[in-house]
Amino acid sequence: MDQEKTLILIKPDGVQRGLIGEIIARFERKGLKLIGLKLLTLPKGKAEELYSPHLGKFFYDYLVQFMTSDPIVALAVEGNNAIELVRLINGATKPLESAPGSIRGDFSIDITHNVVHASDSPENAERELSILFDEGEILEYRRIDEAVLCGPDL
Ligand code: CMP
Repeated sequence: MDQEKTLILIKPDGVQRGLIGEIIARFERKGLKLIGLKLLTLPKGKAEELYSPHLGKFFYDYLVQFMTSDPIVALAVEGNNAIELVRLINGATKPLESAPGSIRGDFSIDITHNVVHASDSPENAERELSILFDEGEILEYRRIDEAVLCGPDL
């Protein structure tokens, strides 16, 4: 069983549009365990660090400006293959490629205002979680339904 932790952000457009509950519910009901949660306005330095792999691309400055413009919600979640699973639930980055039923497929028609962000690899999940969460802000606990959700180690 590949238990992974990953970072999800509800971007400023998701918060402004009142979609926080709707979005968190999708991850919760899938069976992912919420292990960290905060509402914050992202400082410019943290946005620059988060999106450093995109430094130099034409959209970088606008992306940093957008991500720091209004509050966001940061979620840390854990579960079987959480990194890939969360990206599937979020949907593709490009609006014409995000399938209906995914968060972006249901709520987004713009590549920047695309409601959610999620880490795309184990390395980036570790890096991004450490940007958004301090030590002690990510919790270790068991959910009562965990044995059913995660299955046995066969
Ligand atoms: P996100 O999942 O937050 O990861 C990087 C972000 O860069 C992405 O969502 C988009 O919002 C943005 N992005 C990626 N490609 C482009 C592009 N071609 N034009 C504008 N923004 C982009």
